Amino acid sequence: MDHAIKLIVYEEAASTQDIARELAQAGEQGPVAVMALKQTAGRGRSGRSWISPPGKNLALSALLRPKLAPREAPLIGLLASVAVAAALDAKGVPSVSLKWPNDVLVDGKKIAGILPEASVKGDSLEFVIIGIGLNVNSRLSDFPPELHDSVTSVLLATGEEWDLRDAARGLLREMDALHIRVNEEGCGFVPYFWETRWAHKGRILTRDGLEGRAEGIGPLGSLILRTADGRRVEINSGQAEPIGVETAS
Ligand code: BTN
Repeated sequence: MDHAIKLIVYEEAASTQDIARELAQAGEQGPVAVMALKQTAGRGRSGRSWISPPGKNLALSALLRPKLAPREAPLIGLLASVAVAAALDAKGVPSVSLKWPNDVLVDGKKIAGILPEASVKGDSLEFVIIGIGLNVNSRLSDFPPELHDSVTSVLLATGEEWDLRDAARGLLREMDALHIRVNEEGCGFVPYFWETRWAHKGRILTRDGLEGRAEGIGPLGSLILRTADGRRVEINSGQAEPIGVETAS
């Protein structure tokens, strides 16, 4: 094994997020990742569901306990998208780019989505669960017709299948290296790394009802837009979703 993140493979799970969270709450220190060959109740961002045809795509949740402050948690989602992009590069997938906050695109179509969830205890980030859904061996017919123009997979992009366990290992290798770097030197490098792969830098975007030119990523992962009247606006919706916040007594 060339990564320090232990991998546990389930034949079937409702959501790998819940298994990883239960492990964390039972005291597992990690780093550990849980993948399910069949995920029956996958969750996406903002309360959406995540469709993953059985045996075809990667559904994985990594439990990490990075040495970061709670306000830095959004950077973990950015970090995970960089790890996915690097693993896809290594697999020979062309034209990989990122969409803020956490989507991975190939030729402008979504190949992976990331659901970061964070547990905060007092002033500390207790743990994070990084859910990654990566379309690996799916064909367009595996997705509902309304998604056909906006999704892709490793198979569609390269013409080749990828063993799901190999895909998980490739991804965990990249994530391990970035996790080690964060623990050694903090997360100041993350926005810069992420921006180098940004699909929309300099483009006009609309977010939370605001329109502006995509100018940059803030030090805590926010999206910085420059509006037509010259205002600099920060959008924070890239935050990790809370697992349960306990305040210090
Ligand atoms: C998104 O909405 O783009 C994020 C999708 C995240 C899906 C993954 S699949 C593995 C993990 N388990 C879940 O229930 N969700 C995440």
